[in-house]
Amino acid sequence: MDCKTVKIGLVGLGTVGSGVAKIILQQANSIAAKTGIKLELACVVDTDTKSARPVELPNGILTDNINRLLNDKNISIGVELVGGTTIAKQIQLKMLQAGKDVVTANKALLAEYGSELYAAAKQNNRCIAFEASCAGGIPIVSAIRTGLAANNITAMYGIINGTCNYILSNMTSKNEDFAAALDKAQKLGFAEADPTLDINGGDSAHKLAILASIAFGYEIALEDIFVEGIENIAKEDIIYGGEMGYILKLLAIAQKEKDNKISLRVHPSFIAKDNSLAQVSGSFNAVSIFGNAVGQVTYYGRGAGMMPTASAVVADIIDIAIGNSAGTFSHLNLKPRAEVKPFIEESGNLVSRFYIRLMVKDQPGVFAQFSKILAQDEISISGALQHEGHGPNNTIPVVITTHPTEQSKVTAALEDLDKLDAICTKPVCIRIVDIPEDAD
Ligand code: HSE
Repeated sequence: MDCKTVKIGLVGLGTVGSGVAKIILQQANSIAAKTGIKLELACVVDTDTKSARPVELPNGILTDNINRLLNDKNISIGVELVGGTTIAKQIQLKMLQAGKDVVTANKALLAEYGSELYAAAKQNNRCIAFEASCAGGIPIVSAIRTGLAANNITAMYGIINGTCNYILSNMTSKNEDFAAALDKAQKLGFAEADPTLDINGGDSAHKLAILASIAFGYEIALEDIFVEGIENIAKEDIIYGGEMGYILKLLAIAQKEKDNKISLRVHPSFIAKDNSLAQVSGSFNAVSIFGNAVGQVTYYGRGAGMMPTASAVVADIIDIAIGNSAGTFSHLNLKPRAEVKPFIEESGNLVSRFYIRLMVKDQPGVFAQFSKILAQDEISISGALQHEGHGPNNTIPVVITTHPTEQSKVTAALEDLDKLDAICTKPVCIRIVDIPEDAD
């Protein structure tokens, strides 16, 4: 087969950048045999040109001078894997102005400046491909944009941060501490350079903003998303939740509510142990999407790390080289922000079930006191758990689960509970999410 050679310029030789270089250098021939496109890594830019990397580059292609990439007219695709929202933005804009299509894994940048970058790409008659920005190696962006294009999407439930899923899985099944599990996730290359964004839910929110915008056709901003991370999760809640039939996951949820508004949220969620998403562990990600025609589809795979993310980056490079991306990108029409706000549900109005843990004094009448507060706020108890025993200072944990209730009512009840003398520490509250599951 006659092959067309496509030259690639890569900026950022970190974990994912090294994986991309590896795939291009080691698999160019097999990719050419399948696609008729011969990928050539023509230039790699990084501020650090000295440190050892897990990939050996051909002589002379590594530089700290980005102009070598920008000025090389033979490079048609620029890959930005620098991360962050400042320098990376300038790099993408310069690559577009220099006539290069852009491939990126930078979810933070697209979630914050996507509209501006997409407009710049359209102005320059170029495209931006961003499969690697969400759920690592899972081709979820392409699934939503093309595979599910016929559907009116009604809900999306995703485990889309590999670091958090790894931490929660290790706390659940290996009884590991939060800090030890996070440390391992960093060593394995799942976590962001600053893992704060992983554990505070920010990274999942970036990905949800991107996925929900293409699923619903709106320009979604981070401020539209209610976000809570896993940084305050205690091992005992994982254990008590487990005793009540639940497993804890950090879920990203986009859901059409009854009045056609969309609720967008990222928070720790107890889900039923027999739900398919409960089986997703370690750095794996999964996204369950509900479409009016297709029903439920669930995509599952490795959501973080060098090679899974590099797989998605190279898929985008190939898609651009083949000529598919230009068409898909030109049809990325998102309703502007001004029209979006009325369709976003306020988080206080959200209806959910809740897990509430109270550390109470082990004395008469305490149960009656807190159940009175819940009753006053019209919160109905669905389950309760109390072990015999003596906690610190004669306190014991009492766990209750609620029937569906509005978030605002629970917030008010938690404030009142906190004021009771018999309740010794701030109540813990975690949402229970009943994910529907299609069945025949
Ligand atoms: N830090 C991210 C995660 C990497 O853990 O999912 C993939 O986006």
